Amino acid sequence: MTNEQWAFGGDLPINRIGYGTMRLTGWPRGDRPGRDTALTVLRRAVELGVNHLDTSYYYARDGVSANELIRAALHPYPQDLVIVTKVGALVEGDDIDLPAAERRGLTPDGLRRGVEANLRSLGVDRLDVVNLRIDDRGHDGAEYETALETLMSLRAEGLIRHLGISNVGRAHFDRARGLADIVCVQNLYNIADRDDDPLIDACAEAGIAYVPFFPVGGGFRPLTAERLAEVADRHGTTAQQVALAWLLARSPNIAIIPGTGSPAHLEENLAAGRLQLTEKDLAELG
Ligand SMILES: NC(=O)c1ccc[n+]([C@@H]2O[C@H](COP(=O)([O-])OP(=O)(O)OC[C@H]3O[C@@H](n4cnc5c(N)ncnc54)[C@H](OP(=O)(O)O)[C@@H]3O)[C@@H](O)[C@H]2O)c1
Repeated sequence: MTNEQWAFGGDLPINRIGYGTMRLTGWPRGDRPGRDTALTVLRRAVELGVNHLDTSYYYARDGVSANELIRAALHPYPQDLVIVTKVGALVEGDDIDLPAAERRGLTPDGLRRGVEANLRSLGVDRLDVVNLRIDDRGHDGAEYETALETLMSLRAEGLIRHLGISNVGRAHFDRARGLADIVCVQNLYNIADRDDDPLIDACAEAGIAYVPFFPVGGGFRPLTAERLAEVADRHGTTAQQVALAWLLARSPNIAIIPGTGSPAHLEENLAAGRLQLTEKDLAELG
């Protein structure tokens, strides 16, 4: 684990290597660790210094819910633990009983229900950070703006500390910044998929964290960077560890949340923080 930190909103410090919980519910292939292993992974992550968990109330299927696992493993939570959750368009949530329009939509009622569901399932009075996740196909201006305003008023009620946005393009980023205090952007980005390079730089300039999802390809996208295997061999590490070290080297505002149901992979992912890529490695990785 690296001892490098970031602070969401300047006042909520996290170590730059966190943990994403979606994998615990079996996305995308349906396979998942057993309950005991899932609880072990969560507890071990925190023991090893992880203090940033990514989740959502809608990471739930076949009776397995990420928020319930977090609560069972870690409640009462360590004081420095930051749990980042999300509401909005569902990416998973087979167990969440919502009409189709609300699964993809951003209605004020739906967002409030999502915030309340997160509070209830995590067992907290206030959510540390809530990402507004929009649909992959985007949402039009009025719906998106109303959603941000809804979350700002839930924040004013004291239910949310900080806000983020997820699955957004540059126009969404600019619009959000005009309407709300945004502390993080969570989008798809990794060594093999770098469309967001300009957005990462814009976030860095604005003091906003960029949290890439699928940091090791999501388990279904091959990580195909130039010379990845060669660099990994040279350091005696795995390609996944090089991919994570590359993200940490890419920009200081990047905080990573690799997901795994395997205690061994968890240890490897945290060890990636100690992997120092050289100038030569970075040049070869492009
Ligand atoms: N905002 C959004 O729309 C959105 C979308 C997707 C994900 N997310 C968040 O981002 C987090 C990260 O994404 P993700 O978990 O889908 O993708 P990921 O971290 O890129 O990849 C997870 C997959 O890679 C495997 N893996 C992890 N570490 C490994 C290692 N050291 N060696 C070999 N294989 C390894 C895992 O399998 P094993 O279990 O076998 O290790 C799993 O199949 C999620 O958990 C979720 O919290 C957000």
